[in-house]
Amino acid sequence: MVIQRKNQPRTYLPSLWGRLIVHKSTVGRSYINGAANEFSLQSGKDAYRIGRGVGLNDFVIKSPYISMKHLTIECFRRSDGTQKILVEDHNSSNGTFIDGKRLWDGTLMELREGSRLTLGMQPHEIEFIFSERPEDSFQALYITGELLGQGGFGVVKQARHRISRAVSAVKILSKPGLSHPQTDIPQLSEIRLLKHLQHRNIVQLEAVFEDGRNFCQIPGAIHRSLLTSEFADIVMELVPHGDLYNLIANNGGLTESEAQTVTTDMCDALLYLHSQNVAHRDIKPQNILVAGQAPLVTKLADFGLAKMVHDGTFLRSFCGTPSFMAPEILSNAGGSYDHKCDSWSLGVTIFMMFSGDVPFEDSDAPPDTQHIQWTVLPEGCSIAVRDLISKLLTNARERLTIVAITRHVWMQEMWQVRQLLLDTEAHQESVEAVANELANTSVSSSTRYQTA
Ligand SMILES: Nc1ncnc2c1ncn2[C@@H]1O[C@H](COP(=O)(O)OP(=O)(O)O)[C@@H](O)[C@H]1O
Ligand SMILES: [Mg+2]
Repeated sequence: MVIQRKNQPRTYLPSLWGRLIVHKSTVGRSYINGAANEFSLQSGKDAYRIGRGVGLNDFVIKSPYISMKHLTIECFRRSDGTQKILVEDHNSSNGTFIDGKRLWDGTLMELREGSRLTLGMQPHEIEFIFSERPEDSFQALYITGELLGQGGFGVVKQARHRISRAVSAVKILSKPGLSHPQTDIPQLSEIRLLKHLQHRNIVQLEAVFEDGRNFCQIPGAIHRSLLTSEFADIVMELVPHGDLYNLIANNGGLTESEAQTVTTDMCDALLYLHSQNVAHRDIKPQNILVAGQAPLVTKLADFGLAKMVHDGTFLRSFCGTPSFMAPEILSNAGGSYDHKCDSWSLGVTIFMMFSGDVPFEDSDAPPDTQHIQWTVLPEGCSIAVRDLISKLLTNARERLTIVAITRHVWMQEMWQVRQLLLDTEAHQESVEAVANELANTSVSSSTRYQTA
């Protein structure tokens, strides 16, 4: 049976006509041609044989579930430079499948960009993704530079795109999938969440590479790689002025108006996040980055512990940084709590912006058993901000939500000014859009008039 598919023009790659990327393997990677992650199909050779027999194949898979000569994959070139890739099964016992369809002996089936090529059947199968694209590894596309920061899960460095020369930041995570392959471990939810988030006060995700390769282009690949990748590079917007922790340390605390600006930025980011059913769960000065200093602009980063809230499983896990964690997280024994843990951590952050110190003396002891160290705050600190802090560092039931923070007397005015500015900006943009539209319409109507 030959499956006919529509011929699509393909780009001919001078050094490689394709790559077979190991997608999943239930026989263990060590059996695949020296534990390779992918097979390169070189331009100098049009046909490759894959099977168990050493000396009989170009790529050897030493699994009893693979036949001695299992399949051949071949590239046919057309005169216009495009190519067609065909796979032939050699009567293998456990079969060859393309996108779930079995190839019968002696038949050829076409392999296309992103197709799944499976050797053997569940539970003993090896699956590849076929790609005609040139290698798009992180290393091939970016040059890493200066170290920007170091956190609990990996390092963050500058990364310059080799072609566009644009500078970004890259968070290099090592072995995210190894320790708890089936669970929703922090780094992986970060990748999944950040893909969907877009806000002026949230660090923008640009690309994700797993095991060094950009799998974003292959549908469903993120899910695959969540279980198997050993390291990931998260490329994101570079936020140039360090983090809020350093700003506080370098200036010995912020002014009241600077602290209000940061709180406004964070409320803006958190309102957006919570509207997306996401709680950040790790708000602290190290995770708030400084995008501009005059005027001060900050952005929320590090979604490693963030989690979707609507699935009812929210926050049963222990997470966060002890001194910033709401008491209900520390004492939680199976119950669930909501976005208000972010209000608590924001309260600790506001306290730190003034004092450079956390509000509780013993950062290891449960915070609800301790008194807030009000004396650490500078004397000039307003009654309003003390009131706000006391309404954030309290039990979850009485604690202010983010919306309530924006209405608190300490925040109200700046929040309203911000909303007004944003409304004016949005209004300005829509006026410009209408003006452009009118200009285009008049051009086209005059064109119509002239040609009529
Ligand atoms: N996009 C970025 N631009 C500039 N610096 C960054 C960026 N992301 C992170 N950093 C720096 O790296 C540090 C660690 O990053 P973070 O995402 O918080 O990692 P971790 O999950 O390991 O805590 C941050 O505190 C900050 O100083
Ligand atoms: Mg961090």
